[in-house]
Amino acid sequence: MAFPITRLRRLRRSEQLRSIVRETHLTPEAFVYPIFVCPGEGVRKEVRSMPGVFNLSVDEAVKEAREAHSLGVGSIILFGLPQSKDEVASGAWAEEGIVQQATRAIKRELPKLVIMGDVCLCEYTSHGHCGIVRAAVGPQSLGAASAVAPPPSTTTDYEIVNDATLELLARTAVSQVRAGIDIIAPSDMMDGRVAAIRKALDQAQFLNTPILSYAAKFASGFYGPFREAADSAPQFGDRRSYQMDPANIREAMREIDLDLQEGADMIMVKPALPYLDVIAAARERFDVPLAAYQVSGEYAMIEAAARNDWVDRERVIMESLTSIRRAGAQIILTYFAKDAAKLLA
Ligand code: PBG
Repeated sequence: MAFPITRLRRLRRSEQLRSIVRETHLTPEAFVYPIFVCPGEGVRKEVRSMPGVFNLSVDEAVKEAREAHSLGVGSIILFGLPQSKDEVASGAWAEEGIVQQATRAIKRELPKLVIMGDVCLCEYTSHGHCGIVRAAVGPQSLGAASAVAPPPSTTTDYEIVNDATLELLARTAVSQVRAGIDIIAPSDMMDGRVAAIRKALDQAQFLNTPILSYAAKFASGFYGPFREAADSAPQFGDRRSYQMDPANIREAMREIDLDLQEGADMIMVKPALPYLDVIAAARERFDVPLAAYQVSGEYAMIEAAARNDWVDRERVIMESLTSIRRAGAQIILTYFAKDAAKLLA
């Protein structure tokens, strides 16, 4: 007997049929649109390595937020470029910090738009690291800093101090929520930050502010363009002593597990497309809302190829986002949020 042909193509014959059997759907409410806020007025400066993405002064950031909101994008996440940087990241937790100012301005205009605050120090430290830096002191390291050390003179004789950084992260989170941030998203990758932030928020009576933890954040080359956008490239060394080794998926599960134990309400995997297996594993294992960050390098690669007419821009935007959704992320942080929302409309 001839082998009977199973005709899967029957259901692919028209867009109407395909749409009936489609398994994965994107919705603009699940997109988070990143906005980079800088000092000044009327500033709209395109990021060289991220065409279509801008450094925006507060007034322009409000316009950008309004546009995203009107397209149905569910939330935005704010990153700040402070007026000045220092060793203790004052700009991150200052009452009049750039993110705090932008938050108040956006909330005034768009009270219903959900605003996430990225909590990290790298955009605000003079050295560009995500925590406090001091000269390496040996095996008792990683604990509290006795004092902020002078910047190291070489790339090997420094360390990022874990526990002393937690206090600054907690202070940053509290000041952001005071300004109106709805969801706190720590991206620094210090150990114990979720617990420290939760405790500080609770003490400040912000019991209802959720934490979306960048739980499995890998030390990735795909963050390159972001560091230009946020002016946050480390001045020496790299982030490998706090961000995760790209080779590790079991450790990613452990990071997520710990963040949930510490009180995270939602978790994130970052980057997205090169880490779909991590997204899928996290979806399988943890019953909490799962986010993924389609990062700057993922955006830049698609834009660059599209600008050369090497790929069809709209198709690959939607295909990449669908893949991230299919792997199990229900929330997607993406610089394509506005474009994708338009395409879905
Ligand atoms: C801050 C932070 C980074 C990103 C988000 N939050 C940069 C980094 O870790 O170097 C990257 C986002 C992107 O590449 O789009 N720590």
